[in-house]
Amino acid sequence: MLTLPDSKLPRVGTTIFTVMSRLAAECGAINLSQGFPDFDPPPRLVDLVVEAMRSGVNQYAPMEGAPALREAIAAKVLALYGCRVDPAAGVTVTAGATEALFCAVQAVVRPGEEVILLEPAYDSYEPAVELAGGRVVRVPLARPGFRVDWDRVRDALSPRTRLLVVNSPHNPTGAVLDDRDLDALEGLLHDSRALVLADEVYEHMVFDGRAHASVLGRPALVDRSFVVSSFGKTFHCTGWKVGYCIAPPALTAEFRKVHQFVQFAVASPMQAGLARYMAEEPGHAAALADFYQRKRDRLCALLGRTPLGFTPSAGTYFQLADYSAVSDLPDVEFARWMTRELGVATIPVSVFSAGACAERLVRFCFAKNDPTLDAAGERLARLGSNGGPT
Ligand SMILES: Cc1ncc(COP(=O)(O)O)c(C=O)c1O
Repeated sequence: MLTLPDSKLPRVGTTIFTVMSRLAAECGAINLSQGFPDFDPPPRLVDLVVEAMRSGVNQYAPMEGAPALREAIAAKVLALYGCRVDPAAGVTVTAGATEALFCAVQAVVRPGEEVILLEPAYDSYEPAVELAGGRVVRVPLARPGFRVDWDRVRDALSPRTRLLVVNSPHNPTGAVLDDRDLDALEGLLHDSRALVLADEVYEHMVFDGRAHASVLGRPALVDRSFVVSSFGKTFHCTGWKVGYCIAPPALTAEFRKVHQFVQFAVASPMQAGLARYMAEEPGHAAALADFYQRKRDRLCALLGRTPLGFTPSAGTYFQLADYSAVSDLPDVEFARWMTRELGVATIPVSVFSAGACAERLVRFCFAKNDPTLDAAGERLARLGSNGGPT
């Protein structure tokens, strides 16, 4: 009789994002859980993709990405971060940031090597490390504020550390790294063999007049980093799954060895449309911070009328809220209760950590049309007045 092999990822189930979106649909709840906009990409961008399809851009793109798109990416990071990358040898277009993160880990992590994750952490990092045979070493972000405690990162570094994953702006907390953090990171890694995997998919969503502190702005870090971003976040097209990875040529060569057998090539009409749109509308990304800051402020004004506690998010399109004034329920149960009883779906923050989480936090996504946010606010205003769950 055939015996099936043990699962290689025994602790992985259906992600909470799927679970909450499904529950939201079942309950007719407003879905502020999963991180995607409920509005469309710029119409001109859609037209350019359609035009590309109609003009015959429908076959495999080059494995490393369409040249015009790689050139647009290189021009962007030079203009924004002063980072000169060779589009031919240092930029790879991927099937979303997810594929880039996966390929970077597979390219460099060997069995038994350690990868430092700062928790709470985006959910795709750990399974990628496990599939590579690596060992995750967790360092909690410091409370309050979810800043990186660099002393704890130093304690976690060892001769076995292959990779340190940093994510700024940070999902789920909305915290951002600043120049002092990058100083600390640079100093810490100076005598180490560790590489950096920088997840910067929310790079254009940093609020209150601050600039995004990119790893690409630090030559000493660029030399040892994979820097990942996502067109899905920047152009409101998460469903297209187009992202990219920037890395020094030697790391890019290893990265592409994996990429060509995971994905080979990314949807060609999307790449053509994105390249042309970036050339036509170079200001799109720069306008994103104001656009999302207005949405953050709208959601925060609505949350201010509820018993939920919060500090306005510094970046991303997520806002955390503390419900401890309303309920003692663990966050997964509270999020389910809120979806069923109030009709607003969120993500419980404990799912971003491996260990127990005593905090009472849920994550709202504010990448939504204003009427969606206002309708959610009306429902949330009932929090507290109906006693809350027990
Ligand atoms: C921190 C972070 N990294 C990576 C991704 C994945 O991006 P993509 O949809 O481009 O694969 C997401 C998506 O939510 C994210 O929040």
